[in-house]
Amino acid sequence: MRKLLLAVAAAAFALAPAVAEAQSPIVIKFSHVVANDTPKGKGALKFKELAEKYTDGKVRVEVYPNSSLYKDKEEIEALQLGSVQMLAPSTAKFAPLGIKEFEALDLPWLFKDDATYSSAMKGTVGKWLFQKLEAKGVTGLAYWDNGFHMLSANRPLLKPADLQGLKVRISGSKIADQYFRLMGSIPQIMAFSEVYQALQTGVVDGCENTASNYLTQKFYEVQKDITVSYHAHLQYAVIVNSKFWSGLPPDIRTQLEKAMNEATDYTNLIAHQENEDALAEIKKAGKTTLHYLTDDERKAWQEAMRPTYTWAKGRVGQEVLDLVARELDVKMN
Ligand code: LMR
Repeated sequence: MRKLLLAVAAAAFALAPAVAEAQSPIVIKFSHVVANDTPKGKGALKFKELAEKYTDGKVRVEVYPNSSLYKDKEEIEALQLGSVQMLAPSTAKFAPLGIKEFEALDLPWLFKDDATYSSAMKGTVGKWLFQKLEAKGVTGLAYWDNGFHMLSANRPLLKPADLQGLKVRISGSKIADQYFRLMGSIPQIMAFSEVYQALQTGVVDGCENTASNYLTQKFYEVQKDITVSYHAHLQYAVIVNSKFWSGLPPDIRTQLEKAMNEATDYTNLIAHQENEDALAEIKKAGKTTLHYLTDDERKAWQEAMRPTYTWAKGRVGQEVLDLVARELDVKMN
């Protein structure tokens, strides 16, 4: 009897690691730089909820918001190394991967409205750009919207001349660098997590971003004037480490794709309203003055920034510009 008990115990012991292994979930670390209470933050949490539900807990998604795991540039490197599995950087931040073509999306006044943006990303433009990622060991899963940029400083910015000499923080795109230079400003690339302090201490005078980021990062507390210019668009690409993604059991991957598709629809659906609500809150706080461009002022900005379109060829190449021009029905020069 004692022998039998020992044998049973030994068999159970031998099985234990296998059982534990079979039960331990696949972990997806999802790192991003914004607050939970933004379109991207909410999208990441929605993906977590759906992914864990659809895979019956076989996958655990750990969301790290607010640069709590990695800052802008580090996160792309970490993804390629496999230290993190999923990111959603803005498409202005893909140059460290050796891909400049995404920056074509940063051209000023490129998208007429949210609908134009969304059909371009769902169509040929979005697919063509994702293809560029494959050679870098990165797979693109979805595009997430975050609306249009505003511009701020501690003085009203209404005419191009008002931007003269303004030290303005940009997130990474050389296209943004160019359109600010054309306005006489001095652009400076800086990690998102450092912007609040840089504005507060005067390292930079101003920045561009969407209302949800102004609100959740409290930029509006250290900027007296915000121009609701909507001069460029902010979008994200949700990307994964290709080796990790293709190595997943196919049934799990299918469920994760379903979760990602639904989280994408959700994010893109709420983005516009989230930014409208954020703008209303900023207004209500009363710490900053909101300025709106007249038609003539907007025209003056557009004309001043227009040479970015011809300049862009040397940065992003003709191919992507032709594609974008065709799909969006815009002229590149
Ligand atoms: C920025 O750096 O300004 C943005 O890319 C932040 C973000 O991810 O919305």
